[in-house]
Amino acid sequence: MRLKAILDCDPGHDDALAILLAAHHPALELLAITTVSGNQSVEKTSLNALKVCSLAHIFDVPVAKGMPQPLIRSARYAAEIHGESGLDGPALPDPLFSLVPTHAVDLMIDLFLHSADDITLIATGPLTNVAAAMRKEPAIIPRIAGITLMGGAIGIGNTTPASEFNIWVDPEAAAIVFESGCPLTMIPLEVTHKALATPSVFQRLTTAHKTITTFVYELLTFFADTYHTNFGFAAPPVHDPCAVAYLIDPTLVTTKLMHVDIETTGTWTAGRTVCDLYGQSTLPSNVNVGYTLDSGRFWDLMLDTLMTYD
Ligand code: BDR
Ligand code: CA
Repeated sequence: MRLKAILDCDPGHDDALAILLAAHHPALELLAITTVSGNQSVEKTSLNALKVCSLAHIFDVPVAKGMPQPLIRSARYAAEIHGESGLDGPALPDPLFSLVPTHAVDLMIDLFLHSADDITLIATGPLTNVAAAMRKEPAIIPRIAGITLMGGAIGIGNTTPASEFNIWVDPEAAAIVFESGCPLTMIPLEVTHKALATPSVFQRLTTAHKTITTFVYELLTFFADTYHTNFGFAAPPVHDPCAVAYLIDPTLVTTKLMHVDIETTGTWTAGRTVCDLYGQSTLPSNVNVGYTLDSGRFWDLMLDTLMTYD
């Protein structure tokens, strides 16, 4: 049986890859795409989700717009990485369909409360929608089969020295989710920095001659440029599809169960995922934390799935 999933995202170059992987891999049944403020405003990330789905002919998955800003903080975007549109680089046609009229938070609540089957949540943006849904309807918490999220770091961050972008944008939301008691898998920077789009990945995309592979090639070309400018990376890390790939094949990522706290007040460390790697506290483990990735098999999975598009 296919695993039912909701993808909560903020497209975003790597979120676009997460959508393409989640929508076409036979192990998953994607029930909904929900969008959140993160890489760009929620208006832009929603438009981007619709455009990517339209280009890829993903017409059977509802797309719902979510929270326009973090729970208590002002919105903060990543234009230096994803551009002013949130998905700069490839020319994308206008969407061929519209958002559903339901708010993302209400759609999530409805799906978790009323589905007869287990549903897993994949989160690849700030955790604002997820926390808002948990606060609005706590009865969903025991009904969530699990949350696999891209976010955080065991070590250094990518937005501040201490913090990774998704958690840094909305630490209060992350704290609610991490303390919820839901089975949680965190795919941190230690994992995603191994999913590098190297020249051999670009080469494999070039030989495919498909609308989708051309789109991904152009997407990654822009992403490679901003990652080189901002971080000096020789090849860009495609963070978000790692969370989807883990659900499809958990053997791709090595994980360890540990206690993780979210720093919400630190002057220099707000948004830090404080990971008790060595079990130094007496606090119970609450998160399955990834720490390495089989990048060869990850790229095989990603590229093989892209080849299934027309
Ligand atoms: C995360 O931040 C965003 O810019 C990416 O889409 C990814 O979800 C990486 O830190
Ligand atoms: Ca993202």
